[in-house]
Amino acid sequence: MNARSERAATGSVVIEVLGIDSAMRELTGLVVLLKDAVDSGASVGFLPPMAEAEGQAYWRSVVEAVREGSCVLLGAREADGTLVGTAQLLLATRPNGSHRAEVAKVMVHTKARRRGIGRALMLAIEARARGLGRTTLVLDTRRGDPSEGLYTAVGYTLAGVIPRYARSANGALDPSALYYRLLTEGDQP
Ligand SMILES: CC(C)(COP(=O)(O)OP(=O)(O)OC[C@H]1O[C@@H](n2cnc3c(N)ncnc32)[C@H](O)[C@@H]1OP(=O)(O)O)[C@@H](O)C(=O)NCCC(=O)NCCS
Repeated sequence: MNARSERAATGSVVIEVLGIDSAMRELTGLVVLLKDAVDSGASVGFLPPMAEAEGQAYWRSVVEAVREGSCVLLGAREADGTLVGTAQLLLATRPNGSHRAEVAKVMVHTKARRRGIGRALMLAIEARARGLGRTTLVLDTRRGDPSEGLYTAVGYTLAGVIPRYARSANGALDPSALYYRLLTEGDQP
């Protein structure tokens, strides 16, 4: 299997790398996922209600990053082909960060949560990171969100909390938790 068709089984769900063509084909499904997360109150960069055009523009920018080689995009797909989750590995592009990447936009559709799909996405992201020699992984998430449980469960360490980091739908400025994970041989969660 090549990088674009790499798969890891997760019960009836498969995790796959979405290359440029498959990401473009999945644009509608990706917008559905982002809109579902945003409109259900997740802190993923946008505020509800999310417009279709805003989602389209965002995913097109992600496809551009995939094209440039600075983003690895993963999708989680049900047996019937429906996209139920996604995650990104953003590769640091500066010379001093060629060992580093950021995990971003880990999202599972509200109807598919607590089935292990988020965990499978995180493990697949980690496998890709290892394969690319990206051994320092960082991420941030809103303090107190379910995502913190996921990141802790797969071996991330809390580096600190920044107050008043991101705005929520109700106008509040919420704290953000910064996490990291160092990938060393034999270090599995
Ligand atoms: C965070 C998210 C991706 C988790 O996806 P998921 O498929 O439901 O997660 P999993 O079923 O793989 O859960 C794996 C582990 O994470 C933790 N976890 C997941 N959801 C949790 C929750 N609501 N509360 C507490 N712990 C949780 C648990 O340890 C869980 O293991 P368990 O089910 O054996 O207890 C999902 O809730 C989501 O899409 N949230 C909205 C988007 C978002 O905020 N993403 C983070 C952006 S930085």
